[in-house]
Amino acid sequence: MNLRAVKGMNDVLPDEIGRWRKIERIFREITEAHGFREVRTPILEQTSLFVRSMGEVTDVVEKEMYSFARHDDELTMRPEGTAGAARAYLEHKVHSKEAVTRWSYLGPMFRGERPARGRLRQFWQAGCEVYGDQGPVSDAEMIDMLVTLYRELGVQNVSVVINSLGSGETRARYRDALLAHLLPRRAELSEESQRRLEKNPLRVLDSKSAADKAACVGAPSLLDVLGDDDRAHFDGLRRHLDALGTPYVVDGNLVRGLDYYTRTLFEVRGEGGELGAQNALCGGGRYDKLIEELGGPVTPCIGFALGIERALLASAIEPEPRANFVYLAPLGEAAQSALLVLARELRAQKVEAQLDGRGQKLKTMLHRAEQSGARFAVLVGDGELQRGVVTLKDLTARTQEEIARDVVVRVLTDRLAGAPS
Ligand code: HAM
Repeated sequence: MNLRAVKGMNDVLPDEIGRWRKIERIFREITEAHGFREVRTPILEQTSLFVRSMGEVTDVVEKEMYSFARHDDELTMRPEGTAGAARAYLEHKVHSKEAVTRWSYLGPMFRGERPARGRLRQFWQAGCEVYGDQGPVSDAEMIDMLVTLYRELGVQNVSVVINSLGSGETRARYRDALLAHLLPRRAELSEESQRRLEKNPLRVLDSKSAADKAACVGAPSLLDVLGDDDRAHFDGLRRHLDALGTPYVVDGNLVRGLDYYTRTLFEVRGEGGELGAQNALCGGGRYDKLIEELGGPVTPCIGFALGIERALLASAIEPEPRANFVYLAPLGEAAQSALLVLARELRAQKVEAQLDGRGQKLKTMLHRAEQSGARFAVLVGDGELQRGVVTLKDLTARTQEEIARDVVVRVLTDRLAGAPS
């Protein structure tokens, strides 16, 4: 049997985890400073939740969901976090407890896309959602937070693209204008877009097919059909971003692949590096109608999700070094017992202690200590035990000295902290 991970679903081994954790830490620090609190929702939800929120005629719902039936339930492994968070917000009646809610989340999502660099079937998203705030101040704040976040993540050359989809009436007007442009070109469209044309013409705009792209050249811009309130909202967003000095470009043809969006839409794109074609680092926007459509009260919302794997591809971030790391090398069984005790004492002081308990030769253990990345090695044999000392080797300075056993924990913690001792 050929035991391999499922295609498009990757292992993250300990050597890589340092970079992941650093990204997660920076995400948490920055979102917490902006008032977001973490929520954890299940990976499985009712399939109908995704169909109703993301839209029936979308790539994700039509082609990419991992769905199955179990115990009379139709279930789907979440392809994104917004729908589940909205369900939880409603189920726990959070709207009746607080006027504005700021939630963040971090976790794996599942979409059966064709795997490529930066495009996986299990991928991680870090996202934020704001409920109960109509913007545009919160829209500008969120986009500015993302720019700060990518700077802290060491991602160079990001660009922010914004647009407004408008609200109900604007969208109906735009749909008509877009259909007027696309219908005469129907025969040039891909099969899929021909099929979707009447039901959801907006999807043609974000199709990857070259034929669809060509047919969309010269398509009307959403910004030309915005109603007065929608335009005032979008102008407000731009003024706030200008005041913040947050760079952005406006693209009147930016649409995104999910149906719940209204008004503000944005994407953060990366350039160059290892990112390649999958340059959408992060996407988000307003979804002012979703909570109502799921049976809740009028609740304007905005959110985003960023792909962690794509951030890793684009980022120059280095893992934090293992600064507090000591290697313990005992010679003989009595020394093994003695260093078991010392290891416990060091760990109680939050020092990472690795005990080589396999009974090997001194030379082998020293070689391992050097390979391990530890700053210090503690050597103990019968001689040291009799004299009540340990031999402390500084693996960077390549010096060694004897230290009394009863002060070794203090000496090591001082030296690891950089204090003279
Ligand atoms: P999305 O644009 O579908 O939006 O996904 C957001 C981000 O997730 C993308 O920009 C990308 O970095 C990452 N991503 C998506 N699919 C994959 C994949 N197959 N492999 C690797 N990374 C991927 C949403 O999911 C919305 N829920 C965002 C949102 C939150 N809107 C409002 N609130």
